[in-house]
Amino acid sequence: MCGIYGYVGAKEAAPILMKGLRALEYRGYDSAGIFMIPSGVVKAKGEVSALQKKLPKKLSGTAGIAHTRWATHGAPTNVNAHPHTGNLKRVWLVHNGIIENYQELRDALKKKGNTFVSATDTEVLAHLIEDILVNGNAKNLEEAVVAALKRVHGTYGIVVMDAEEPDTLVAARLGSPIALGIGKGEYFVSSDPSALLEHTRNVVYLNDGDVSVLTPEGYSVLARGKKTNGRVPEYLDWDADSIQKGGYEHFMMKEIMEAPEVLVNSARGRIDKKTGAVKLGGLEEVRPRLKDIKHIVIVGCGTAYYAGLVGKYLFMELARLPVTVEFASEFRYQNAPLLKDTAVLAISQSGETADTLAAVREAKRQGCLTLGIVNAVGSSIARETDAGVYNHAGPEIGVASTKAFISQLEVLALLALLFSEKTLSAEDRRRYARAIDRLPQQVEEILKQKDTIKKLAKKYGRARDFLFIGRAYQFPIALEGALKLKEISYVHAEGYSSGEMKHGPLAMIDGSFPTVALVPKDATYKKTLSNMEEIKARKGPLIAIATAGDTRIKDIADDVIYIPNTLEPLTPILSVVPLQLFAYYLGVAKGYNVDKPRNLAKSVTVE
Ligand code: AGP
Repeated sequence: MCGIYGYVGAKEAAPILMKGLRALEYRGYDSAGIFMIPSGVVKAKGEVSALQKKLPKKLSGTAGIAHTRWATHGAPTNVNAHPHTGNLKRVWLVHNGIIENYQELRDALKKKGNTFVSATDTEVLAHLIEDILVNGNAKNLEEAVVAALKRVHGTYGIVVMDAEEPDTLVAARLGSPIALGIGKGEYFVSSDPSALLEHTRNVVYLNDGDVSVLTPEGYSVLARGKKTNGRVPEYLDWDADSIQKGGYEHFMMKEIMEAPEVLVNSARGRIDKKTGAVKLGGLEEVRPRLKDIKHIVIVGCGTAYYAGLVGKYLFMELARLPVTVEFASEFRYQNAPLLKDTAVLAISQSGETADTLAAVREAKRQGCLTLGIVNAVGSSIARETDAGVYNHAGPEIGVASTKAFISQLEVLALLALLFSEKTLSAEDRRRYARAIDRLPQQVEEILKQKDTIKKLAKKYGRARDFLFIGRAYQFPIALEGALKLKEISYVHAEGYSSGEMKHGPLAMIDGSFPTVALVPKDATYKKTLSNMEEIKARKGPLIAIATAGDTRIKDIADDVIYIPNTLEPLTPILSVVPLQLFAYYLGVAKGYNVDKPRNLAKSVTVE
C-alpha cells in the first residue's frame, strides 16, 4: 500500500526519485523519504511536497531509493517513514507490504544486540539483511537479501541498497508489485509502471519470488533462487500525457471526462458493429473451456464488487448463467467449495488488491478456471488468472474509481454477450452492438450537464445523510453512488434497493434527508416511482436520474438529471456518470482533496 521508487545510472538521482514519488503518491501519502549515497537519508511526515521542502539544496548521488507511505504498522511519523536501516546504517531499504513474523524476527535480532528505532515491520527486514551481510555467509547484498527473504513470512516489494556498494540496487517481490524500467546505462524500479514512462517504455515485471540486481551496467533476475537468462522487457505504449492532469483541477474530474474515450477503447476491435459477434483476444486460449462453464462466481472489492453485481444481472439475463458475486475479502474466508465447471471472475482496476488476488489463488487451488477483468497491464491478477480481458482505461490516478468502473461495466457487457451465443437471437445481438456503439456519445451528453450537477451539489451540500435507491440493474449503481459520495465528500450515504424501502429505511426519511432515485424507463420504472411517492409523502427531498423525455418524473422529483435512452442492461454505464459528478462537486465544495480522500489509498495491496 505504498509507493517505492529506485534509480541507478549516471544522472543525479534526487530529481528522478522525487518525480517518481510524486507519480506514486496515490498509493500512499502519510509520510515520505529518500536515501542516496553519499547524501544520506531525508524523511518527512506528510505528503511528498513536505519531503521536497525538507531536502537540502545540494543532494548528490547517482543511485538512490525513495518511498511514499500509507501506514500499516506504526503511526505516520518521521521515524516510521522509509527508508529504514540496520544498526550499522549500512543497509537501507524501502518496502511495500507486510512482514507478518516481524515480531519474532525482531525479538531474535534484539537478543543479538540490535536496537530498533521505529514501530514498523519494515525496519526488522533492514536489520535482518544487514545482519546476514555483516555476520553471515553472504558475499554481497544480493545473497544477503535472498537469505533474509527465506526467513520472512508476509508480502513485500522492496528495493535495497548497501552503503558499501553504492552503484547497486537489489529489488525483490512477493505479493506487492515491482516493475523495472530498462533504460540505456540507467535502471529504475517502481511500484507502478506508469511512474516509469517519463524515462523508458521498456518494462520488466518481477514475479513473486524474483530478486533482481540493477547496476549501471545491466540487470539480472533470480527466480525463486535460480538464475534466469534475464527477462525480455515489455514495451509499454501508454500515452505519457495520460498520467498528467491534462488541464483539469483534479485527476478525478479528468478521469470522469475521459469516460467516452474509455468506452471506445474498451470495446475497440472486440465487437462487430454489424453482427454483434464478440471477440476477446485475452480469452481465446481458454475458449474451449468456456463452453463447459455452468456457473460464474464474481469476486472484487469496493467499486469493482459493484461492477460485479451489475455483471450478475448481465450474465443471468443475456447468457442465462447462474452467477454469485462475493466481496473478495469475504470469499477468502468462506471456505467455499467450488464446482469444477465454475469460472471465477476477478474484477480489479489495479490488479493488485490483496483480497482479490487471494480469491483467485483459492479458486485455482480448487481447480476452477480463473478469469480477470483488470486495468493495470502486467499486474498480479492479470498474470495469475488463466485468462482475462484488459479494460484499456489507461492509468487511473484518482483514488476514487470512475472511468475504470465504467469500462468494467462495458467489458462485463461484452463478456456476457460472448457467453450468450446460444441464448440471444441474432437480432438482439445486433441491437446490443448498436447500443454499445452509441454509449460514448451518450456519455458526452451527460457530461455536458456538469454545471447543472454542480449547482445541485451546492443546493444539497449541507445535507448530512443521503439515500440512493434503484432496482435491478440500478441497485448496484445506487450502492456505487453512495460509496462515491462517502469516499469523496465524507458524507454519510446508503445505497438501497428501492424495493427494500418499506422494510426499514423509509423510517429515516424526513425533510432533511435527500434521496437520489435511479429511475430510468426500464422494467422496474413504475415500482421505483411508487417508492419515490412514498418518500415524497414523508417530505423527503428527491433527486431523480431519469430517461430523457420523461416529463412525469418532474411532478414527483424536486430535481431531475436526464440520461439518454439505451437498452436496460447498459443503463448503469450512463446512470453512474451523474453520481460520479455529484460526488466530485460535493467533495470539492467541502474543500476536500478529492484525488486523495483521507484514510484511503488507490491500491489496497494488504489485507
Ligand atoms: C473505489 O472508488 C474505491 N477507491 C475502491 O473501492 C476500489 O474500487 C477497491 O479498492 C478495489 O480496487 P481494485 O479495483 O484496484 O481491485
